[in-house]
Amino acid sequence: MSKFYQLKVIAIKKETEDSVSISFDVPYEFHEIFSYKPGQYLTLKFTLHGEELRRSYSLCSSPVVEGPLRIGVKRVKDGVVSNHINNNIKIGDLIDVMPPDGRFFADIKRDNYKTYYLFAAGSGITPILSILRTVLLTEERSYVYMIYGNRTENSILFKKELDELQKKYGDRFILEYTLSRPNRNWSDLWKSSKEQSFRKGRIDTEAVKWFINEFPLYAQNAEYYICGPGTMIENTKKTLQNMDVPDNRIFIESFGSTKTEDTLEGIDNAKLTAHLNNERIEVLIPNGKTILRTLIDAGVAPPYSCEGGVCSTCLCKLIKGKVHMKNNLALNDDEIKQGYILSCQSIPLSDIIDIVYS
Ligand SMILES: Cc1cc2nc3c(=O)[nH]c(=O)nc-3n(C[C@H](O)[C@H](O)[C@H](O)COP(=O)(O)OP(=O)(O)OC[C@H]3O[C@@H](n4cnc5c(N)ncnc54)[C@H](O)[C@@H]3O)c2cc1C
Ligand code: FES
Repeated sequence: MSKFYQLKVIAIKKETEDSVSISFDVPYEFHEIFSYKPGQYLTLKFTLHGEELRRSYSLCSSPVVEGPLRIGVKRVKDGVVSNHINNNIKIGDLIDVMPPDGRFFADIKRDNYKTYYLFAAGSGITPILSILRTVLLTEERSYVYMIYGNRTENSILFKKELDELQKKYGDRFILEYTLSRPNRNWSDLWKSSKEQSFRKGRIDTEAVKWFINEFPLYAQNAEYYICGPGTMIENTKKTLQNMDVPDNRIFIESFGSTKTEDTLEGIDNAKLTAHLNNERIEVLIPNGKTILRTLIDAGVAPPYSCEGGVCSTCLCKLIKGKVHMKNNLALNDDEIKQGYILSCQSIPLSDIIDIVYS
């Protein structure tokens, strides 16, 4: 379940000053295991300075284009793994990679007739690029409107690829770049360079309203995909909701969270029964420890990646008992009602806890 496979790095490309894309060869025998839906991510594992570190990176390649698996990694200030990948990874390196996972994906089918609104900011372009390319190549009747926010023109990730897609599919793909700190001296909200026009500003309420009004629905069946920093996600979601877009049409991927200071400790020595890989594990949960950490410390290998309540790799179903989730950026209210929990964030609120990993 949380098995890692060694994949060889076969290409590295510096995409911007502070990001690279990395391509992995997938041996024929692993093809099925590494099949994916556009929008999903890989989990990479490194041991750095004696510590095992796992991080998720969304696939920016498309499953309908033959070729290697590709991720895009942007440096995070003082970030351990993103800087290690940007500084040290070389062609030929073998990296431990967990098969694709994640619930942020588009159900793309040849016969679909939809309008897609794509909202991306910074490194949030990675899953959006995969969805975009797959829709354009597969759904000939669908339209895509995309807004992509960055600081400056130079920090736009995959710009050449995006511009090529726009050129090729210009009849059904509209792309708007928006820059919060444009290089040029801009006085107006709008201004064009000789070659291309950019919007000035962030993806905020005003930008989202403008975008939706400027590019009305083509097909009534519309879906909205958002990936970027927390504030951009929140603003975009709220604005769409205020414009009467139903929640079940809005799909969100978050890359990280500011850790909340949640001091609730839960019940001491709750009895945990976990069903994982056809095994039944019984263990006591020490005060303040999460279900995931308890299992790891007991020598079990449950699936996990971010350990921050963001990616949902650690998803399981609560069959019995009550838990408190310290942080949750991955599950919606419906899923919580159905009993799903993030084991990396869950501490017990009852003496008996039964969970099942799917
Ligand atoms: C589902 C999922 C998909 C992801 N896809 C991508 C992707 O395609 N490309 C990509 O570059 N990253 C992606 N990420 C983020 C990535 O997994 C790491 O969190 C990121 O690279 C930082 O790791 P680090 O080890 O460098 O930083 P850490 O050493 O873990 O963190 C260092 C500091 O940076 C802060 N921080 C951590 N993550 C972020 C962040 N994303 N933005 C701002 N500050 C942060 C921390 O709070 C901490 O203060 C994804 C995350 C998730 C959950
Ligand atoms: S491991 Fe990412 S949400 Fe739990």
